[in-house]
Amino acid sequence: MTSKYLPHFLVFLLLPLACKKEKPSSPQSACPGVDTLRVTYQNYVSDIMRQHCTSCHGGSSPSAGIRLETYTQVRQLAESGSWYRVMNEGSMPPAGKLDECTLQKLKRWIDTGYPQ
Ligand code: HEC
Repeated sequence: MTSKYLPHFLVFLLLPLACKKEKPSSPQSACPGVDTLRVTYQNYVSDIMRQHCTSCHGGSSPSAGIRLETYTQVRQLAESGSWYRVMNEGSMPPAGKLDECTLQKLKRWIDTGYPQ
């Protein structure tokens, strides 16, 4: 191990100490390094929407009148706050909450200004 990885290694060692027992899927341990990822609509978000959302929120009669098929549609809903909220609450997709790492990447997309 070179010294440049040492800080990361220490973080992994110390994380369990910092995490409370009742939160096993704490953000840091679920998806290490997410805060340096470049998450874009093209390289990530559109795939997640296709896999988990557009079967209902797309096509000719989208559920709740919400479409999630294009960058503009997803961005508008994300800016309204409800896009991330329903996923983070676990109410969407109805089949079951997205895993913590996926949620963190979607959050990262929001926090970095919705890169296309
Ligand atoms: C199996 C069909 C289905 C899938 C898949 C689905 N939705 Fe929905 N969604 C609905 C229906 C039906 C409603 C309207 C009734 C309701 O709110 O439960 C809705 C409502 C919503 C709303 C409005 C609710 C509010 O409180 O503002 C949002 C936002 C939303 N969905 C986002 C998503 C996102 C994001 C995904 C993918 C992660 C997703 N949905 C996947 C069926 C679906």
